[in-house]
Amino acid sequence: MNTTMMPVIESGFEALPSCLGMSGIQGKRCMIVADENTAPLFAEKAREKLQQAFSEVPVYVLPAGEEHKKLETLDGLFRELIRLHFDRHDVIAALGGGVVGDMAGFAAAIYLRGIRVIQLPTTLLAQIDSSIGGKTAVDFDGYKNMVGAFHMPSLVYSNTAALATLPAEQFTAGMGEVVKSALLADAEYFRFLEAHAAEIKAMDLGRMTEMIRRCARIKVGIVERDPLEKGERALLNLGHTIGHAVEKAKNFELLHGSCVALGLIAASSISQNRGLLKETDMERIRAILEAFGLPLSVSGLNAEEILSLTKSDKKMKAGRIRFVLLRSIGEAFCAEDVTDEELRSGICAILRP
Ligand SMILES: NC(=O)c1ccc[n+]([C@@H]2O[C@H](COP(=O)([O-])OP(=O)(O)OC[C@H]3O[C@@H](n4cnc5c(N)ncnc54)[C@H](O)[C@@H]3O)[C@@H](O)[C@H]2O)c1
Repeated sequence: MNTTMMPVIESGFEALPSCLGMSGIQGKRCMIVADENTAPLFAEKAREKLQQAFSEVPVYVLPAGEEHKKLETLDGLFRELIRLHFDRHDVIAALGGGVVGDMAGFAAAIYLRGIRVIQLPTTLLAQIDSSIGGKTAVDFDGYKNMVGAFHMPSLVYSNTAALATLPAEQFTAGMGEVVKSALLADAEYFRFLEAHAAEIKAMDLGRMTEMIRRCARIKVGIVERDPLEKGERALLNLGHTIGHAVEKAKNFELLHGSCVALGLIAASSISQNRGLLKETDMERIRAILEAFGLPLSVSGLNAEEILSLTKSDKKMKAGRIRFVLLRSIGEAFCAEDVTDEELRSGICAILRP
């Protein structure tokens, strides 16, 4: 497996040709895979730059949305790759959010047993998280990311200016993952988010770029040390176990990042009940989530339902749940001894009658 490289973070597509050149990525064909929202916004601009490195740059448009992240959606893409005689020297460029990145990445992982992929992420979540680390997948029979492969991108190029068109709720959801990264790995980064919340919310390009660069660096560091998720990488699941359960119980009506925010509060509350996290830190966590417009509680759910969904999460190991807790802001660890009672109390911390 290739090492994980730091994404290139720019505020336009202008530097893309030189980055391709420096990474030795050129050839005959590069298929841009976008979705029906990102294609009209960015495909032409990206194509113009990719044409400096490739002689043919066709565009393939996927339907947008998680509901299309499945094997059948890839059939048409494979047919197109075959029709255009794509071979092992050719490249796929994933232009979009995490859904496009995961699907195009998975297609690249299995087409001809693997061709190169470059990631051109256009959502906040994709720029700080999903484009980094080589996890690719599609959903299967209602199970998220059930069928996939590890396939490292040859280049990740984030154009932060692309976030200007991102719907506000998508930006907010991405902030759930940003706060998660700070909480699990970097107290100083958490302070940076506290200090600059207003500028980040106002989409100040300089601050946003700094935020994205620092967040990407956290993920790159973790993936470098544990590329196949045998240990430390599991810490990235902070907030996700109860978060996923809420997501399912709410029939996916709440955005993933909002559910992660709720999961962060639940995990923090369990950590506090264990005497690890101080009350003042708990308050800071609530305050930062609130500052970015993320939910602190959810209504219409009951604790037992969330508990049973939490225990059916795929992060179970030999019947025990692997749960990420906090020792303090910036320091997470995996616990396999979290009891049902503790889970219930964490869940109750986010339920509104
Ligand atoms: N591979 C990983 O390591 C990893 C990590 C985290 C999440 N994921 C996956 O990421 C997916 C979620 O990704 P997401 O949150 O980016 O959602 P998404 O890809 O569905 O994008 C959200 C919406 O925004 C639109 N969009 C994208 N960029 C835009 C832009 N710049 N302007 C306007 N609209 C834009 C998309 O078309 C879509 O409608 C999930 O499937 C999740 O499983 C993967």
